[in-house]
Amino acid sequence: MSSRSPGPPTGIRWPLVLCVVIAAAAETPRKGEGAAGARMQPSVFDESAAYERFMGRWSRQLAPLLVEFAGIGEGDAVLDVGSGTGALTRAIVEAVPSARVVGVDPAAAYVAYAQAHVPDGRARFLVGDAQQLDLADATFDRVASLLVMNFIPDPSKALREMIRVTRPDGVIAAAVWDYGEGMQMLRLFWDEAVARDPAIAARDERNMPLCKPGELAAMWRRHGLALVDERPLSIVMSFTSFDDYWAPFLGGQGPAGAYVAGLNETERAALRLRLRRRLVGDGEDRPISLQARAWAVRGVVPPR
Ligand SMILES: C[S@@+](CC[C@H](N)C(=O)[O-])C[C@H]1O[C@@H](n2cnc3c(N)ncnc32)[C@H](O)[C@@H]1O
Repeated sequence: MSSRSPGPPTGIRWPLVLCVVIAAAAETPRKGEGAAGARMQPSVFDESAAYERFMGRWSRQLAPLLVEFAGIGEGDAVLDVGSGTGALTRAIVEAVPSARVVGVDPAAAYVAYAQAHVPDGRARFLVGDAQQLDLADATFDRVASLLVMNFIPDPSKALREMIRVTRPDGVIAAAVWDYGEGMQMLRLFWDEAVARDPAIAARDERNMPLCKPGELAAMWRRHGLALVDERPLSIVMSFTSFDDYWAPFLGGQGPAGAYVAGLNETERAALRLRLRRRLVGDGEDRPISLQARAWAVRGVVPPR
């Protein structure tokens, strides 16, 4: 792969970022409310430490699998789309000593956290929107995105941007949790939440776009990417206790955290009890092990 360095950003389009945030606030009467979570705005991703406890720790476990699947190699200039608190960028710089990474995410708090916690000169982070990247054409050898495509309001627009900033023959890879069947932590959560209150069924993350087998691959092919390959990436989530599973939902991050934040105390206690019974029964607390599968896709950018 080439040793080109990623071009310097020409500056963040602050008015755009502000518009996105303002539009999100206007469309979202309560944090995280919205049909199916499919149009979830970045406002459900705003507390970096809470995100780390909730999902960041699992992203760190999943990230090396995507680094390998994306084929990131020595000298690569890589774009991490929706870099969040920095799990994927960290995995790239740790696995590939001469790779350089630019991470882009609209959540300023996550970008600040990533900057502070991935203090490697080969990694830098920008506040920005995947749908309108302020980056030059054909700048990157590889573009990767971990657990993000389903949260982008217009994922096709984002993929077109990802293609634009990747050089011909470069690779674009992404992974999204299999919310419907393969991600037990959130599957159990939503099964119990919907059983307690069937009226919220539309908020179940199983309704997210791009999380079923074949959906990412179909999108990659529709956008003209070549040699498209999709496969599952799996990890085991080990919780030390029921509380280690439950407490991070209280941090208000992502659609599930936002849902819990909107419950009153009685509703929250009822949901907690259902989940505790489901996971450890009525007896003593104990460690819990859950399977988590994401669908990952990769494809090659054709010559222009
Ligand atoms: C589930 S988190 C994943 C973060 C990180 N990649 C990880 O694996 O920990 C989803 C991320 O998508 C980001 N996101 C949402 N909308 C986005 C957009 N339009 N462009 C880029 N990132 C976006 C959120 O801010 C959030 O950081």
